[in-house]
Amino acid sequence: MGSVHVLDHPLIQHKLSILRCKDTGVKEFRELVGEISALMCYEATRNLPTEEVEVETPVAKAKVRVLSGKKLAIVPILRAGLGMVDAMIDLIPSAKVGHIGLYRDPETHLPVEYYCKMPPDIAERQVFIVDPMLATGGSAVAAIDFIKRYGCRGITLMNVIGCPEGVQAVHEAHPDVDIFVAAVDEKLNEHAYIVPGLGDAGDRIFGTK
Ligand code: PRP
Ligand code: URA
Repeated sequence: MGSVHVLDHPLIQHKLSILRCKDTGVKEFRELVGEISALMCYEATRNLPTEEVEVETPVAKAKVRVLSGKKLAIVPILRAGLGMVDAMIDLIPSAKVGHIGLYRDPETHLPVEYYCKMPPDIAERQVFIVDPMLATGGSAVAAIDFIKRYGCRGITLMNVIGCPEGVQAVHEAHPDVDIFVAAVDEKLNEHAYIVPGLGDAGDRIFGTK
């Protein structure tokens, strides 16, 4: 079974408190999603393998550690996941980016796919799927299904806010996938929104409501 890592770092939690507030405007919301993503990226990449190499400093030779193993890919679930990408690429500039376009049908709450474009060597990469919200888990499960069809193994899911229903759905469908979140909230409401959550992440990032 995959694990869920709740990142309770004080900086993440402080920024999340501002993100949740209904009075936080689009500019600040977008900046905070980026800042939280960077801090989460730091934690979610903690166990990446490294290897020892030698470099020559201006003073002497030094044994240093560099990333080894699989190359990385960031896969945002459109549209809200886009808000997390720049911060991730700033920290991992060699990562390739694949896009999965999914929206939730407002009636059924089921994910509908509308766009997908992956790097050609995605099967050989360690994939970080990013999306601020893990609600019913339908979008995350569909995104992981999709990426696995390319032959990918080694997938990590990063969400800012999850809830028990979403975590359970991902764990049941994809027990090999670890989840990193800043918070696991109480529940879903009748519209499948996370309670207390932060509202509609896409609308708040892009100012569409
Ligand atoms: C939101 C969110 C997730 C999805 C989560 O996207 O960004 O992708 O809902 O819900 P689920 O876990 O129940 O699938 P939305 O469908 O609102 O699209 P958007 O990103 O284009 O706003
Ligand atoms: N999508 C969002 O943006 N927010 C929620 O609470 C649930 C799904």
